[in-house]
Parts: sequence; structure tokens; C-alpha cells
Amino acid sequence: MATLWHGRFEGGPADALQALNDSLPFDRRMFREDIAGSRAHVSMLARVGLLDSADAGAVLEALDTTEAELADGSFAFEASDEDIHTAVERRVTELAGEAGSRLHTGRSRNDQVATDLRLWTMRELGDIARLVGRLQATLASRADDAGEAHLPGYTHLQQAQPVLLAHHFLAHGWALARDVDRLLDAIGRTDVSPLGAGALAGSSLPLDPDGVASDLGFSARFENSLDVVGDRDFVAEALFALALLGVHLSRIGEEVILWSTAEFGFVGLDDAFSTGSSMLPQKKNPDIAELARGKAGRLIGNLTGLLTTLKGLPLAYNKDLQEDKEPLFDACDTVRLTLPALEGLVSTLELRTDRMAEAADSPFAAATDLAEYLVVSGMPFREAHAVVGAHVRAALAGEASFAELVAGDERLGAEAVALLAPGAAVRRRTTPGGAGPGPVAVQRVRFAERLADQEARLAGLR
Ligand code: ARG
Repeated sequence: MATLWHGRFEGGPADALQALNDSLPFDRRMFREDIAGSRAHVSMLARVGLLDSADAGAVLEALDTTEAELADGSFAFEASDEDIHTAVERRVTELAGEAGSRLHTGRSRNDQVATDLRLWTMRELGDIARLVGRLQATLASRADDAGEAHLPGYTHLQQAQPVLLAHHFLAHGWALARDVDRLLDAIGRTDVSPLGAGALAGSSLPLDPDGVASDLGFSARFENSLDVVGDRDFVAEALFALALLGVHLSRIGEEVILWSTAEFGFVGLDDAFSTGSSMLPQKKNPDIAELARGKAGRLIGNLTGLLTTLKGLPLAYNKDLQEDKEPLFDACDTVRLTLPALEGLVSTLELRTDRMAEAADSPFAAATDLAEYLVVSGMPFREAHAVVGAHVRAALAGEASFAELVAGDERLGAEAVALLAPGAAVRRRTTPGGAGPGPVAVQRVRFAERLADQEARLAGLR
């Protein structure tokens, strides 16, 4: 079996070497990008006079056939096909004869694989950003469903101040907006063509890296051949953006898990988006939410794995870099699986707003409002905090109800007791970006604008 380097070698590769070395099982999913890169390369070779038009035509036709075979599954892989680049070139040479063996002129698999993976990553991150947009739209529509319902807001997972349920949904929406920003940003830095860098140093042939870059739709060509063939920053950035997205999905999952417990009872799970137990007939389990939480672990693992692979590499290409693809593919696949399931889960949550209000309307929820009431009448905040805190302590000790204690304090009195009414505390959150109905109405509009802007930026991707 002929290797790409058979001229230099007397013997063939050992089976164990091939088993370790071959990347075809996973890199074949980049075949479209590989063929696109080859088309641009061949057209460039013809333009600069390194390939006559008959040969270029034969190779382009062979590339079309090869792509069709790979797409419909009829492509016959051979044991000697080390990776997708080798397989495509082998087939093109079978189909186009001697012209095919001119395809690799002035090119190395080092600039080729970097080109393929950048093209693949840009398209994939764009698709994922669009899926994130759909989850954001679902969160916005759940915020609309929630109207002016409120629930306890938590710090330290202890009830803190009531917030609108819409505010809570939108909080997750804004985190995802940053994820979309990061994905778009990562796409921007990935948008550089490595083709023409060769193995590491460029070429003695009159190649045109600017021409192939623009043919392939890249915004720019590389500046430094040595840098670009060993640069996998774009993979690390993609993995970070996906890991942090995974962390956000995990946090949404964690809340659905808590909220759907009997103890919270804030939401009910739809049958289509929950599972039962094989033994316990009464169970309804939030598996989607748990998997969203669990899969964050593997997304973080993919990032740390790649960073560890990269950290000790001398310039330029090293075979270690072949370890870039599996974590990236896995991260993209994982996020693509998780997003629609989580979106379905969130969109079908039954919102038990009565339970939420009941939990939120403990009179202590308005403790801060009472302190702020005292501040308005001139008391320093620290002192006000202590006055109200003493009433809380007395109420918890059973001396009297909180309302009675407030009513009996001449600095507070009946006007202050009114602040303890159900829902009053949340309606008083009026500052910009705050949790009450006033600022949340503004926020709903701003979030919708943000989604529209995001969509326009995504539509502008090639
Ligand atoms: N399969 C290889 C990879 O994924 C392609 C590049 C091989 N380059 C080389 N010099 N052996 O990195």
C-alpha cells in the first residue's frame, strides 16, 4: 500500500502505527471543507500558470465526483487513507490520472488541515449561535407568559428579595447573549486563511494566498506561515465559548431541577420533556436539566484537554495538533444536542405562580424596604438595618408577628406595615435594570432589540 511518503521509505507502515496515526474516522466529517479548499487551490494553480486549463478542469471534475461520492456514502475508503485529505487526493488521482497528482503542488497537509478546520469551525459556530438565539427567544416568551408574577430571588440560596419571574427568565437570556457575542467573536478570529503557508515556510512557487483566501470567503490570509500552521487558538476559543455556554445551560438546568422538586414546587415538567422511573411509579425526573448540568463537565474537559495539548508545542506543526478535532467535534455535537432539548423543557414548563408568590410573600421579604423607608425619613442606613433586624429577630423568637412589631414601632407604623402586603416589595423595585414591573417592561423591549440585532449579525455571516 502506497503512503504519501513512499519515495523516501523502503518499508510500509506497521499496523500499530496506522491505528494510532489515522484520523480518518473522525476527520472525514470535514470532507466538504477539504474539497472546497482543493477547488480554490486548483483554480489558483491554474491562474498562476502552474496547471494548464485541461488539467485543472479534470481535477475540478474529479473533485465534484469525489464530493458526490462522499455525500451519498458511495465513496470507497481504502486502508491506506490516513485522513480525509489523503482519501480525497487518492480518489482524485484515480479519477483524473496524472492531472490529479498535480493537485498537491505547493500545498502541505499542514496548511490544508488548518484551512479545513477553520472553515468547519466558522460554519458550526454560526449554527450553534443561531440555536442559542432560539433558546433566548423561548426565555423571552416565557418572560411574557410570566406577566407580573413574582417569586423569591435568592442569594446563598436563601430567600433574599422578591423578583419578577420575567426578570429571572431574562437574566438567563442576557447570559446567553454574551455567549452569542463570544461565538461571533471567535468566528471573527477564525476567519483567516492558512492556505499557501505550505508545511511551514511558504513556497518557491508563485502561489497566491490572497486569491485563495478570497475564493474561500475568508476575510484575510495569514500574515506568518510559521504561526498559522501551528495556530489552534481558534479551536481553544471555540471550546471556551462552548464551555461557558455549557456552564450557563448547566445553571439553567440546576434551577429547573430545584424548582421542580416537591419542596419548591415552582414548576411542573411536561411529559414530553421529562422521564419516569423504572421502579418508583410516582416519579417524574428532570433528565434534560440534569444532562445539561452534566454535559458542562465534558465541555470543560474538552477545553482543558486541548489547552494542555497545546501548551508545550514548539513551532510549527506537530502531530499532537491532530488532537484538536475530536474535542471540538464533541463539544459542538454536545451543545447541538443539549440546546433544543433544554429549549423544549423551558418552553413547556408549567409555571406555578401561586406557589412562587406564596414563597415570596413572607413578610421578611420586605425587610430591606422597611430599612429603606427609615432611610427616606432620615435615618442612616446602618441604623435602619439594625432597627429592622431587631424586629426580625423578635418575630422569629415568637414575641409577636413581624407586622405587629412594625406597627408598634413609632418610627415605622401603619404606613410601613403596608409595605409588607403581598407583592408590594417587588413593585417597589423601580431602579433601571431592577426586578420590578417598571424596569422589567423596559428590559423586555431592550432584550427584544438585542435579539433582533443578534439575528442581523448572524444573517451577515457567510
Ligand atoms: N491528519 C492530520 C491532522 O489532523 C493532517 C495533517 C498531517 N500533517 C503532517 N505533517 N503529517 O493534523
